[in-house]
Amino acid sequence: MAYKDVYAAWKNDPEGFWMQAANAIDWDRPPSKALFDEGAPIYEWFSDAMGNACWNAVDRHVEAGRGNQLAIIHDSPITHSTKGITYAELRDRVASLAGALRAKGVGKGDRVIIYMPMIPEALEAMLACARLGAIHSVVFGGFAAHELAVRIDDAKPKAIIAASCGLEPGRVVHYKPLLDKAIEHATHKPAFTVIFQREQEVAKLIEGRDFAWHSFQYGVEPAECVPVEGNHPAYVLYTSGTTGAPKGVVRHTAGHMVALNWTMKNIYNIEAGDVFWAASDVGWVVGHSYICYAPLIAGATTIVFEGKPVGTPDAGTFWRVIQNHKVKSFFTAPTALRAIKREDPEGKLIGDYNIRSLQALFLAGERADPDTVKWAQRHLRLPVVDHWWQTETGWPIAANPLGIEELETKVGSPSVAMPGYDVQVLDEGGHPVAPGTLGAIAIKLPLPPGTLPTLWNAEDRFRKSYLTQFPGHYETGDAGYVDEDGYLYIMARTDDVINVAGHRLSTGAMEEVLASHPDVAECAVIGVADELKGQMPLGLLCLNKGTNRPHEAVVAECVKLVRDQIGPVAAFKLACVVDRLPKTRSGKILRATMVKIADGQEFKIPATIDDPAILDEIAVALKALGYPEA
Ligand code: COA
Ligand code: AMP
Repeated sequence: MAYKDVYAAWKNDPEGFWMQAANAIDWDRPPSKALFDEGAPIYEWFSDAMGNACWNAVDRHVEAGRGNQLAIIHDSPITHSTKGITYAELRDRVASLAGALRAKGVGKGDRVIIYMPMIPEALEAMLACARLGAIHSVVFGGFAAHELAVRIDDAKPKAIIAASCGLEPGRVVHYKPLLDKAIEHATHKPAFTVIFQREQEVAKLIEGRDFAWHSFQYGVEPAECVPVEGNHPAYVLYTSGTTGAPKGVVRHTAGHMVALNWTMKNIYNIEAGDVFWAASDVGWVVGHSYICYAPLIAGATTIVFEGKPVGTPDAGTFWRVIQNHKVKSFFTAPTALRAIKREDPEGKLIGDYNIRSLQALFLAGERADPDTVKWAQRHLRLPVVDHWWQTETGWPIAANPLGIEELETKVGSPSVAMPGYDVQVLDEGGHPVAPGTLGAIAIKLPLPPGTLPTLWNAEDRFRKSYLTQFPGHYETGDAGYVDEDGYLYIMARTDDVINVAGHRLSTGAMEEVLASHPDVAECAVIGVADELKGQMPLGLLCLNKGTNRPHEAVVAECVKLVRDQIGPVAAFKLACVVDRLPKTRSGKILRATMVKIADGQEFKIPATIDDPAILDEIAVALKALGYPEA
């Protein structure tokens, strides 16, 4: 079947389409129907089914005779080690961990926060929760104690599973002290923690509260999979919104399994026995969907990579991993390729490896700039698939579905809408615009299975953030256009979210931290264009009247404050002091205009501006910081 036929089949009978996809999942009780629309505009899928995600990701493959196949390969150029875990081993390890958690009182519906680096135990922790019906919430290791504390207070976990440390090139990330600080600062206290001690740094455990990963499992009864309802939350994953409070994206179990399984064959062309690699982190949605659940549900081998595209040890690392583990489909962020391209512009290191196993490269997480896509096409001579999605959707909204049909690639476009997504480009009034016209991108409700049904403990915020602006639609927060052939072009965010090295960050959250500095009266954070990372945050600070401390000192303290409060991942290093910020007459800071000045783009002075002279002052300050770049 061609893509257009598959898409048309979905459109003609969405419920039939997803019921058929659901046949690929093992159910304890199959769903009686697909869509549950009684609570519209809040929708659910397969709510009356009973099943277990860990069973589908692990046990069923052992039962089907795949027990000796590798489920996980851990490849760490940082520790110079590679290790494989078969499906049978994975089942036993996960059942034992789940048994130990159960013995300490963790059960269905309890939340468990996971704060771990890129080691297989992170996946085992996720799967152990799924086995019990506990709801995991993974927090990215690059976040600081404060961000972890915010998530602890929102998720109210019964337990936290962490590692003693993470390893960044040339630096040990001391997870345990960060965890201790977060628990100290949080109002909610978990009943206990489980710490995986890594040999690179053994952490001090607090007696009675902290348990060591191995001894904690001694003598426990392994746990069986607990069947849960289709609409039981599998996990909550926090993502950046406009304000400092992160949004807890909820994922229901059944739709998650059905949709992810569908994507593995149809989008990534991966089947049981194939090797799939997503070079992301378990702390992001890509890690949840395409390092952990989707490849395992499909019975493939997944790679857990602890390293960077460059510097661990060089720009050939990705190609080595692909060669050594015979990767068939590879998924990374454009920023990683830009880092490689910068060090190896001619792609010479690619030639040092035999990467014939590789059939396609997938890119997502940020806009794939045409230069990077063309570089990859030239040097890999493979389909390079830009595909577009979000934490909220959990799987691609638009892609080139290689497992159905390889469509023509249009560089700069993540291709076409996937079944399940009726994508619309709307004007401010919510009316569809003509092809080629820029607008807000929205998706007609209901969203497909596997996407967010709501936000954790925040249904009002869910409605306000996503469903109110364009009634009957989900607002993606992205702007772009569609061409005459139905290809989408994703150009920018419509909110204050920025994308730094493929990481989604909130400028609002950074502003809240900067505003807490005693000398800062007012501030704005904007995302300026960066050749490597796509965007970089830049802070403009207005100081309190009478502050006569050196500006450099205040800037350095602000940089440190953001690193300490949000984390190194914010990559907040650029800031300057200005006298005033440009605003509209109603007091709204003109961030978009400042971005244009910093990026050297043409701009119109907004008609609503209060005092246009401030823009000249901003231009001078940005120039002193090196923006626009020469
Ligand atoms: N734990 C602790 N710290 C982390 C971290 C983690 N898991 N991940 C990143 N950091 C730190 C880095 O060490 C760095 O700290 P520094 O300021 O002390 O140098 C900071 O956060 C910024 O990290 P990053 O944005 O990754 O920049 P970098 O300069 O270290 O590397 C790239 C640049 C392009 C190589 C890197 O950003 C990269 O590989 N990006 C791809 C990201 C990706 O795959 N995203 C997928 C999302 S779908
Ligand atoms: P996240 O939730 O972290 O996955 O970030 C999602 C956001 O990243 C989207 O809303 C887009 O702004 C951006 N994004 C992700 N993939 C793409 C892509 N292929 N092209 C353009 N932007 C993308």
